[in-house]
Amino acid sequence: MMTRKNLLTAIIGTALTFGVSASSYASTTLKLSHNNPRDHAVHKAMDHMAKEVRKLTDGEVRIRIYPDAQLGNQRESMELMQNGALDMVKSNAAELEAFSPAYSAFNIPYLFRDKGHFYKVQEGTIGEEILASSRNSGFIGMTYYDAGARSFYTNKPIKTPADLKGIKVRVQPSPSAINMINALGGNPTPLAYGELYTALQQGVVDAAENNIPSFSLSRHSEVSKYFSLDEHTMVPDVLVISTKAYDSLSEEHQKALKQAALSSMQLMKDLWAESEAKERAKAEQLGVKFISVNKTAFVEAVQPMYNDIEQKNPALDQIIKRIQAVQ
Ligand code: GCU
Repeated sequence: MMTRKNLLTAIIGTALTFGVSASSYASTTLKLSHNNPRDHAVHKAMDHMAKEVRKLTDGEVRIRIYPDAQLGNQRESMELMQNGALDMVKSNAAELEAFSPAYSAFNIPYLFRDKGHFYKVQEGTIGEEILASSRNSGFIGMTYYDAGARSFYTNKPIKTPADLKGIKVRVQPSPSAINMINALGGNPTPLAYGELYTALQQGVVDAAENNIPSFSLSRHSEVSKYFSLDEHTMVPDVLVISTKAYDSLSEEHQKALKQAALSSMQLMKDLWAESEAKERAKAEQLGVKFISVNKTAFVEAVQPMYNDIEQKNPALDQIIKRIQAVQ
């Protein structure tokens, strides 16, 4: 049997044969799981981050990305990360609500006035506080990724909340998303993203809601022909790392990782805009109609959510009021 020392010598020997420097053996490879396809803007942004961090650390920190839910859906990936089998996960604020309640703020409908307001929050003190809030739950947020606005899609136009009455609407497993559909008069049905195509096709659910790139790249555009631009939420994607993996990095490597993550967040803004235009055009070619919507009735219908939070959830209410105050 090969001893540990012999094994190491053999590995280093092989490495030297291939011209790899001995220092690369001190390298850390962080495994990152997410559920979007490779041609999704967020995959490209994270690919950029992986290259950046490798460059900034002279190859000592590497990130290996597993896309397409290969290693499990978002919830399963979070659990694998908590068990130490994965180091990083790209999820989104809706899904993270179950793991750290501060993320709920991003799931409240019609909270952000526009994209400029949203960017100021994600890149400002409130955004950073939310990313740091989950440290004791075993993970730390590194950055947000623009994921546009989410709207309803089904096989008829949704122009007012009345059009959702009695309809089964797929939501992410997020209490805020469930409350939102209830407030709008629909029937919320939590389901993992990967199960949604078949659920729409077979009528297990009637409608869903998402941003345009995810709608098109998951081919939901084949089975839902009306995309109503009510833009109820701006739920960012979020990149997280386990507290254990983060703490095992040197301070210098932690800084490099953050820098690479922030650089990919900035790149994502352009990638997102390009992707929204391209995927909308692709969906239109498939016969999808994009419907413009007067948002007033939607905004009014969700107001009880704000009153409820004010009465029952002071911590979240405070975050919401701080977000509203950001100019
Ligand atoms: C977004 C996000 C996905 C997520 C999906 C969903 O599109 O990019 O990661 O799974 O929403 O609705 O579940």
